[in-house]
Parts: sequence; structure tokens; C-alpha cells
Amino acid sequence: MAQYDTQTLTQAVIDRLADCKDARFKQVMTSLVQHLHDFARDVDLSPQEWITAIQFLTDTGKACNDKRQEFILLSDTLGLSMLVVALEQARGAKGRKGATPATEATVQGPFYWAGAPERRLGEDIAEGVSGEPALYTGRVTDLEGQPLAGALLDVWSGDGEGVYDMQMADAGMRARGKLRTDEQGRYWFWSIRPTYYPVPTDGPVGRMLDRMGRHPNRPGHIHMMVSAPGHQPVTTHLFVANSPYLDSDAVFGVRDSLIVEYERHEPGTAPDGRKMNKPYHVAHYDFRLVPA
Ligand code: BEZ
Ligand code: FE
Repeated sequence: MAQYDTQTLTQAVIDRLADCKDARFKQVMTSLVQHLHDFARDVDLSPQEWITAIQFLTDTGKACNDKRQEFILLSDTLGLSMLVVALEQARGAKGRKGATPATEATVQGPFYWAGAPERRLGEDIAEGVSGEPALYTGRVTDLEGQPLAGALLDVWSGDGEGVYDMQMADAGMRARGKLRTDEQGRYWFWSIRPTYYPVPTDGPVGRMLDRMGRHPNRPGHIHMMVSAPGHQPVTTHLFVANSPYLDSDAVFGVRDSLIVEYERHEPGTAPDGRKMNKPYHVAHYDFRLVPA
């Protein structure tokens, strides 16, 4: 009978992959087994801790449904999602030395809702939504600064209290929209200035954060998925400059290049000609896409 000790067991498991036909799967599983065993040895994992972990993962699975993905939230809060985003972007950036940096990507988060309504440039995508109005303006270009006409911006955010439409009982889409750039690659639309908010904390991940002594908050941000024919799409955010939690985002998604000033203006005529009877903000950002 083969008998293994706390060291030889690891190699024995890896050896069982000898007939695995898929080279990449074999590489991933070999590394996973190695790291998992190293981890258990490193912390000297007890049976009680092992069953606690199993129960936690079971609870995480049970908290998932078609509206909620607790495993992705677990990945987000452990920094894995952002690590995968950063690895992918580093891969795409290879061989582009000297080019203007592309717009950086960040996590998609759980509140993307496919099929947001098409909006005309200049429309308010957050009519009736609480929050201070903000005019978003900028261009979508390639890395040489050439405008990308007809580029698509799929935009979503929470309201002025940090609540997403998907978190409200039987509410329809709010503060979402798809916009296309004009011939000069320009976009402009109205929404609100988003505020910071907590990731969902009423499940196992919330309990984990609490036990870790961590806060659950994300700094104010608006999500954008930007795409254009012949270019790689980017899923990103614009972060509100000076928002609380920029330095301690619960999902590690902040990138300095995505922090945008929201210039405050008194009531009057906004740059797009809209008459504003209350104070508003203007946020400007140019997106740069990588060729496909
Ligand atoms: C979000 O920004 O919508 C988000 C991202 C990760 C986890 C929870 C929420
Ligand atoms: Fe968000």
C-alpha cells in the first residue's frame, strides 16, 4: 500500500495528473495542489478549521442565485478579481512600448445589466434618480489619439445614496444607458455624481470582512464598458476625486489614472447648453482603446 507523509502526499497527488491530456489544465491543477498543500502546512491547518472553511464555501454557494454571485464577491474582496484584470492588461500591453497608455481596466462588479436602453448624446440617463447632477464629457480615441466614431459606452452607476437599481425590489433600470460617440469620437451625457457605498454585507463574505476587521466600502465611481469595432473593449470605472475610501477600496479596484475631478458649478447654463437650476458637476475623461 502506498503511504504518504505530510510532505510526500503533495507529489503523489500531482503524479496522478500524469495522463491528463490538457496541458494547461494540468499546469493549473499541479500549481493549485502545490499551493493548497503548502498553505495547509504553512498554517498547520486543523480539522476544525478545515470544516469551517468547507462550511464557509458551502454558505457562499448557497448565497448565489441569478441576481447574486457571492463567489465573485469573495474573489473581489480577496483581490483575486483585480489581480486577474491586471494580469490580463499586462498581457495585452506587451509589445506596445512607447504607445500612449490605454485606459486601464478594473473590476466589472455584480451590477452590470445587459440591455440598457440606447440614449442620445446629451440625454440624462438618471432622470428622477437621487443625487447631484453631473455632465460627463470626453472622447474615445485609439492609442494615437485618432477619434473613434460610433464607439459604444455602456454606462451604469448607483444613485446619490450608493444604491443600484438591481438592489431595489422590483425596480426597473435606472441610471444606465448606452451611448455612441459622434463623428469626432465625442460623448456627453448627464447622470449623477456617484457616492461611496458598501458591497453586499448580508452574506458569508460580509461576515468574513467583519471578522477580518475590514470595512466593506467602495469609493464613489461610475462604471463604463467602452467598445469600438477593431479595438479591444475595456471594462472600467471613473472614480470621484476626493471620495472617501479611494485609498482602501474593499475590492482593490482603484487606479490613479481613473480618478476624475468632478468640477462643481453653480446653477446656470451648462457647457452643453442645458439650463441648470441647481448646482451641478462636470467630469471629463478621454478613453483610449487598444487595437484588437
Ligand atoms: C461594484 O462596483 O458595483 C462592485 C464591485 C465589486 C463588488 C461589489 C460591487
Ligand atoms: Fe459599482
